[in-house]
Amino acid sequence: MTLVAEYEDNFSLCKLNLFNKPLANVVVIGAQWGDEGKGKITDLLSKSADVVVRYQGGVNAGHTVVVEGNTFKLHLIPSGILYPGTDCIIGCGTAIDPQVLIQELDQLEALNIPLGNLLISQTAHVTMPYHRSIDRLAEERRGERKIGTTGRGIGPTYADKSERTGIRVQDLMDKEVLREQIYWAINHKNAILDKLYNLPPLDPEEVIAEYSGYADRLRPYVVDTALKIYDAITRRRNILFEGAQGTLLDLDHGTYPYVTSSNPIAGGACVGAGVGPTTIDRVIGVAKAYTTRVGEGPFPTEIKGEVGEMLCDRGAEFGTTTGRQRRCGWFDGVIGRYAVRINGMDCLAITKLDVLDELAEIKVCVAYEIDGQRCEDFPSSSRKFARCQPIYQTLPGWQRSTAECRSVEDLPKQARDYLRFLAEFMQVPIAIISVGPGREQTIIVEDPIHGPKRSLLYADSTPARV
Ligand code: GDP
Ligand code: IMO
Ligand code: MG
Repeated sequence: MTLVAEYEDNFSLCKLNLFNKPLANVVVIGAQWGDEGKGKITDLLSKSADVVVRYQGGVNAGHTVVVEGNTFKLHLIPSGILYPGTDCIIGCGTAIDPQVLIQELDQLEALNIPLGNLLISQTAHVTMPYHRSIDRLAEERRGERKIGTTGRGIGPTYADKSERTGIRVQDLMDKEVLREQIYWAINHKNAILDKLYNLPPLDPEEVIAEYSGYADRLRPYVVDTALKIYDAITRRRNILFEGAQGTLLDLDHGTYPYVTSSNPIAGGACVGAGVGPTTIDRVIGVAKAYTTRVGEGPFPTEIKGEVGEMLCDRGAEFGTTTGRQRRCGWFDGVIGRYAVRINGMDCLAITKLDVLDELAEIKVCVAYEIDGQRCEDFPSSSRKFARCQPIYQTLPGWQRSTAECRSVEDLPKQARDYLRFLAEFMQVPIAIISVGPGREQTIIVEDPIHGPKRSLLYADSTPARV
């Protein structure tokens, strides 16, 4: 059976009992430029996960979960935290700003969310005050070449990690080591702040006092998380790896240099959690029914004008972390297909379908024109990508509310056709459709965890080599 036929077959199956089956180890990743609704989908899947692990990124992320009208905005703590029985791990590949993490802990505690199941990696890197300053100052200095970072010190934290001068959570836990590390680092950073940016020096004693306080608060949660995850795997517990950012923001595979400084793609889960690739059973992508991007960088399907503003308004497209307005555009099938490939995606969750409800016509980018030539694939050169002109296929809209739809049959025919078009184009089954921010505003098309593995589907079409 071809993948498309398989998909068509599955499309009518919408009432699978997702939550009564054992979970496999799954990675949830963003298939676009972040903010796809990973928080909502992770929360949904966390119901049957034993452990949820954030494996990269830092407080640049903002994951929103809406439960019974209450909105939770999470930056570092995994979106599984809202289920009391689920262990939540901040893995070694993350960049931890303790000040923001503690604010997040305080907010959750104030809402009576139990935090006893939280664990923090002792080898994650720590964002320091000079990282935040240098992030912002470097952006100013870049002028027209600015990246539009979140200003949270992410790039400089990971730069120090690569340069092997970073401070890790375990350093924070040892007063002597912390003192020595901070003196050594600040000596160097003060020279940069002074010579490059003409700023007054940081006082190491003040930073030591501040970070010692954070250490005391975080100490109960700090462990060797890779060991804990391995232990959970050997006890056949189900792990969900929660990606932050998105495929096109990946340091190696995104629209460099307009990317973040970590690896959000599925492969990043192994490094950032400390597990072997054989641990991962399944990769679930999350994409909006259109596209958004926050920050600078090429965005071929961006819509400037009325329709873009309508998407922004209806989708409430303002950043969870910085409040910046997100740029809005049509669904880009070329980058969607790229995300399927680069992540080894098994199935897709499409979110925010409801945002398209009012449109009479909807466009999908099916190829680019670059310098007069048609191009079907995402070009790895950002300069080339910046010259891409989208080639669109136009589909009819449905001009009806989908917010109350709870099954595929409830959806207007044009909405089903739109989704089928996306699935066929990207050659990936759509397993989940989201029609609103609430947990209940979700349609399960097929079991995202136990449905057919996409990689096995294309293996089916070639003769077995035994
Ligand atoms: P994340 O970073 O990928 O977790 O996504 P964000 O939380 O930054 O942004 C997604 C926003 O869309 C959040 O405000 C969600 O509450 C909201 N959202 C998620 N799914 C849907 C949906 O299907 N429809 C609508 N209208 N909003 C949604
Ligand atoms: P979640 O997890 C959307 C973007 C920034 C900027 C670029 C680099 O909520 O999807 P950084 O501060 O990481 O150095 O900024 O990456 N960016 C995001 N965009 N969602 C995010 O996270 C993002 N995290 C970073 O806007 O363009
Ligand atoms: Mg977000």
